[in-house]
Amino acid sequence: MDSFIIEGPGKINGEINVSGSKNSALAILFASILTDEKCVLNGVPELSDIKTTYELLSYCGKSCFFGFNRFEISESSKLLTEAPYDLVRKMRASVLISGPMLARFKSVKFSMPGGCAIGVRPIDIHLEGFKKFGADVKLDGGYVILKVKKLKPAVIKLKFPSVGATENLMMTASLIEGETVIKNAACEPEIEDLGEVLNKMGAVVSGAGTEEIKIKGSKKLRGFEHKVIPDRIEAGTFLILGAMSAQKLTVKNVIPQHLTALIEKLKKTGAELIVNNDEIKVCSNKHIKPINLKTEPYPGYPTDLQSQWMAYMSLAEGKSQIEENIFENRFMHVAELIRMGADIEIKRNTAYIKGVKKLIGATVMASDLRAGAGLIIAGANAYGTTKIRRVYHIDRGYEKIEQKLASVGLNIKRTEE
Ligand code: UD1
Repeated sequence: MDSFIIEGPGKINGEINVSGSKNSALAILFASILTDEKCVLNGVPELSDIKTTYELLSYCGKSCFFGFNRFEISESSKLLTEAPYDLVRKMRASVLISGPMLARFKSVKFSMPGGCAIGVRPIDIHLEGFKKFGADVKLDGGYVILKVKKLKPAVIKLKFPSVGATENLMMTASLIEGETVIKNAACEPEIEDLGEVLNKMGAVVSGAGTEEIKIKGSKKLRGFEHKVIPDRIEAGTFLILGAMSAQKLTVKNVIPQHLTALIEKLKKTGAELIVNNDEIKVCSNKHIKPINLKTEPYPGYPTDLQSQWMAYMSLAEGKSQIEENIFENRFMHVAELIRMGADIEIKRNTAYIKGVKKLIGATVMASDLRAGAGLIIAGANAYGTTKIRRVYHIDRGYEKIEQKLASVGLNIKRTEE
């Protein structure tokens, strides 16, 4: 198992490039199941979640090639309509295989994803949607089995704007003739990106990125070539890091509109940002004003940038609060930040943070992907050596992060235990 060793506090300076969006790429790669034609996705980051997707698509019989950030998928034999436990366990987004498989083959069997460090994460919203399309849903030995004779279009109102459910149902609807309407849909930019791909494939999707999405499905869909949008969470992580420790950091390959909630909050803390077309410059903020926030579905502040913000607020000049409204157990990084000298108390879904003068390096553990990112930010600003264990969580979502951060001057190294 790898660890990161960070010597802090580090001053960073220079330009850092944001990779393609992991979450967008995952959904779009699963959309390839909707067709037997060749699909090509460019700008795909080299991450372990992408490797898991490669394994899952290959397991089902797709021929995959991935190199130089280009992912090609083709099909030459009949597909297996199954997602086994071992692959779903590694990555919850594997559940996105179910909609496209159901739509194309009228049946699919996939392992029920378990809980994870950030919560129970049920898939009831996905299943309710499939039922509305006419599918029969059965649970058997930890597996979900979906079957249908003929899918029908539907009007589906989600009880919560789940990102995964919106994507799964959009993909399914794209192969159902007639118009489906998804109400209270998730509005994340990754949904818009997927909508663009489904349009390239021959469906007619409108409203992706708003609360109401209309999809006119087609009997057969084509292949596609597409480039994924930049990863707004990676960009946001670099911006928060820059606001804490940069002489000047230019974050490149960014769509600033996707980061509006973060940019507004950062400015309120006193951080100086220069926002251009596709890059944002940020300088270190010597006197961090404490600012409260709550995580919300897009366009609100993203839960995936919550731990990073907490690391930032740990060094603010005063008290702040963070309310986590998306996942019920997403404060696993708090105990680790406290080990580094932060003063944080949790009551229900709110963290109460009293800013401290300095953080001290310690051995800490990444409990999940984004918690790990928060610890990197804390380590970069702590005095002495921080060792972050279980880096495999971070490798799921940040491409070559230690190389990128070292290139702007952070003293960070990967070690093998
Ligand atoms: C996606 C992102 C993840 C991000 C999250 C919220 C991917 C691969 N992952 O995850 O990085 O943190 O959106 O922005 O895109 N829920 C239910 N029933 C369901 C589905 C979800 O109760 O059927 C709940 C979840 O437990 C959670 C909340 O809804 O509390 C949000 O989940 P959802 O939006 O579905 O997140 P994911 O798609 O899993």
